[in-house]
Amino acid sequence: MNDMLNVALPKGRLGDKVYALFEKAGYGCDDIADPGRKLVFESPEHGVRYFYVKPSDVAIYVERGAADIGVAGKDILLEYAPEVYELLDFGVGRCQMCVCGRPDFRDDPSRTLRVATKFTKITRDYYAALGRSIDMIHLNGSIELAPILGLSDVIVDIVETGATLRENGLAVLAEVCGISARLIANKVSYKFKYEAVTALAARLQGRIEVSQ
Ligand code: PRP
Repeated sequence: MNDMLNVALPKGRLGDKVYALFEKAGYGCDDIADPGRKLVFESPEHGVRYFYVKPSDVAIYVERGAADIGVAGKDILLEYAPEVYELLDFGVGRCQMCVCGRPDFRDDPSRTLRVATKFTKITRDYYAALGRSIDMIHLNGSIELAPILGLSDVIVDIVETGATLRENGLAVLAEVCGISARLIANKVSYKFKYEAVTALAARLQGRIEVSQ
């Protein structure tokens, strides 16, 4: 069974959308329709074995070879810079990494800027490129609270629909980068399962083009 491709999918809405593309590309797996408490789904006839993990963990499974390929958000790839190959852009799960704050916030370059975020590497890289010194405040969630309560001047966070910002009286102040779901591959698997991995990537690419 070692010649089967192990595929790490992100749990949740994004994973469901992406799995639909795998299915349309000819890599369906009957068990997934009725998952129950099962964690691993095999389709020997298509040579794939799927498992769902927390979205932020996909890159770890792929980097360490527990999965040959997987689907990870560009935010995770930029933040953790895993040693994996990025093979294609699914064009789904689109959102923006943005600097956000109160709409009337004006940066005073003579003061250190206080920035709250979950994404410390992306934030550090962004402000380093601007030559702006910052005081990094690492939070794990509900980042929007930070400027509201005066914990930070701004935040760097993901904006998808913009609803969280609107409902909390905040606004986008600058765009950092675009985010979407990417197909990633373990470097050793890419070499030793080259034909299976590239055939799957090519068929997925065909489906992505049809659905865009
Ligand atoms: C993310 C992100 C924003 C929100 C943006 O949070 O951190 O808070 O979604 O989406 P929107 O523009 O559609 O409102 P998530 O739901 O992952 O929870 P978190 O607060 O734990 O980060």
